Amino acid sequence: MCGIMGYLGDRDAVSVLMKGLKTLEYRGYDSVGVAFLNDGSLKVCKKAGRIAVLEEELSSRKYRAGIGIGHTRWATHGAPTDANAHPHYDCTGKFAVVHNGIIENFHELQEQLKERGHRFNSDTDTEVIAHLVEEKYCGDLSAALRLALEEVRGSYAVVLISEHHPDLLVAARRNNPLIVGIGDGEYFLASDIPALLPYTRNVYFLDQGEMAELTPDGVRILDGAGNPVSKEVFHVGWDARAAECEGYPHFMLKEIHEQPRALRDTMGSRITAAGDVVFEELKMTPEELRGFRKVVIVACGTAYHAGLVGRYILEKLARIPVEVDLASEFRYRDPLLEPGTLAIVISQSGETADTLAALREAKERGCRVLAVTNVVGSSITREADEVIYTWAGPEIAVASTKAYTTQVLVMYLLGLLFARAQGLMSIEEAAEITTTLQEIPAKVEEILEQKDLIRGLAERYSDREDAFFLGRGLDYAVAMEGALKLKEISYIHAEAYAAGELKHGTLALIVEGVPVIALATQDDLLEKLLSNVKEVKARHGTVIAVCLGENEDVAGSVDHVIALPEAPSIVAPLLAVVPLQLFAYYTAVARGCDVDKPRNLAKSVTVE
Ligand code: F6R
Repeated sequence: MCGIMGYLGDRDAVSVLMKGLKTLEYRGYDSVGVAFLNDGSLKVCKKAGRIAVLEEELSSRKYRAGIGIGHTRWATHGAPTDANAHPHYDCTGKFAVVHNGIIENFHELQEQLKERGHRFNSDTDTEVIAHLVEEKYCGDLSAALRLALEEVRGSYAVVLISEHHPDLLVAARRNNPLIVGIGDGEYFLASDIPALLPYTRNVYFLDQGEMAELTPDGVRILDGAGNPVSKEVFHVGWDARAAECEGYPHFMLKEIHEQPRALRDTMGSRITAAGDVVFEELKMTPEELRGFRKVVIVACGTAYHAGLVGRYILEKLARIPVEVDLASEFRYRDPLLEPGTLAIVISQSGETADTLAALREAKERGCRVLAVTNVVGSSITREADEVIYTWAGPEIAVASTKAYTTQVLVMYLLGLLFARAQGLMSIEEAAEITTTLQEIPAKVEEILEQKDLIRGLAERYSDREDAFFLGRGLDYAVAMEGALKLKEISYIHAEAYAAGELKHGTLALIVEGVPVIALATQDDLLEKLLSNVKEVKARHGTVIAVCLGENEDVAGSVDHVIALPEAPSIVAPLLAVVPLQLFAYYTAVARGCDVDKPRNLAKSVTVE
């Protein structure tokens, strides 16, 4: 949510910033801007709209800059206008800042600054930082930023540039991510790793309350009191291609196709030759695993849906009670977290503000916290007691796909780990399930080969304004993810229902031609699901069923069938979601939507 980029070095700073912002555009795309020192004087160029708008404007000008900051915005305070785009600057025009986060006391600070004669150019909370820095500045830029931030309540990743210091970038973070890239005689700042990959894979992750000073001589990390901190350089494993579209028309389609690889990488060495599950990264002993009395899974959006699958799996395999909570609700409902509760937070980005806050709440209440996340070094990984990475690789499309399937896979592996630790499952029984899991990537490949069939269905129903997703048991959890995918990228109103609930109200919405996607992968619930399908058919709804293998009963009851490869029902979520992702994708394409950057959304939601 908002992307920040900073550069200091011998390259053309404006080009580096624009390229980095393009990679970060998934974090927000309603306005964009850069500030740089052009022949020693501070120049700010910013525009409402997508990056291309600013690029167009900059293309006719020749700037020479070796230092600069940039920002791509997802509006919180103030509409997406030129004036509200970042960078923001003070009254003297000598200091410019970019910011990701929210300044909670900005009204109060703004009023005080106005009383002291400051004039504001925007409606944003960020601008107060530039004015505060101007007031605090006595020749030391770092000190000025530190003193300014002492007055600020809220969250921030902020980068500051000043005409007074042509060779210095100063950055600070609290609750929002900021990464320092270390090149050869050049230095970078970015909200996320992919923006750095064309230049370097050596990074520092800034921790809570830390600041960084970037000069041609190197990078100095400081703690909140201004004392130097020594930090280890982290080497990122991803290569630059991971953050490129590589011939696909959209990142989302690329990421859907990456799922077999992502699933294989996430299983990796966690399944032993004997078919058991090990997580070498976990510090928890089998005794500790046995000691948990309850699991609480907390997450947002798609990650929450992965948690819903996790509940079924953990309860079924390990017979441990599991609650699943939306992170934005969890904190405010005074949850009952008795001793012996394990909190599992799931987050692709590892930065989602609500999930991070839930993690802190759970820790404060004495829970052990296990994070399942995709981004190494993210805030959530730094604060959790234990971390399991989903090795999905960078996910750039706003709509999550490969992160979801790898999160779901981790839920199965955790279910098995718990079941084995509790003595509920023999190694042979575990091996039966792990063998099935190992076959999933090849089966996902088979489903991807059916994309023409799915595209045909998507195009046929792409003009509808409503769609329903039905399922029972695990299928209901997958239905929720299918509906979210469709609504977020195609803007079709899509709802998921536990199939048995239809007759308690929703059936009133089923009229002729309304597409209903029925998930029919759970053998023990199939008869009941088909009865619900009949209820839909009787109201002339159009039913598309997703089932395992060829199934005559299903085929005879519905309008269209998407047949998944044969597999045991328990692992069906890992397969059934794939056609739903493709259905959403092709529907959005047919409707001419901006698939990777749906309206009003942004990836990595770092505001509550
Ligand atoms: C939907 C989607 C979102 C995220 C949610 C949580 O496709 O991607 O619903 O799942 O914002 O994000 P993370 O997993 O980064 O915490």
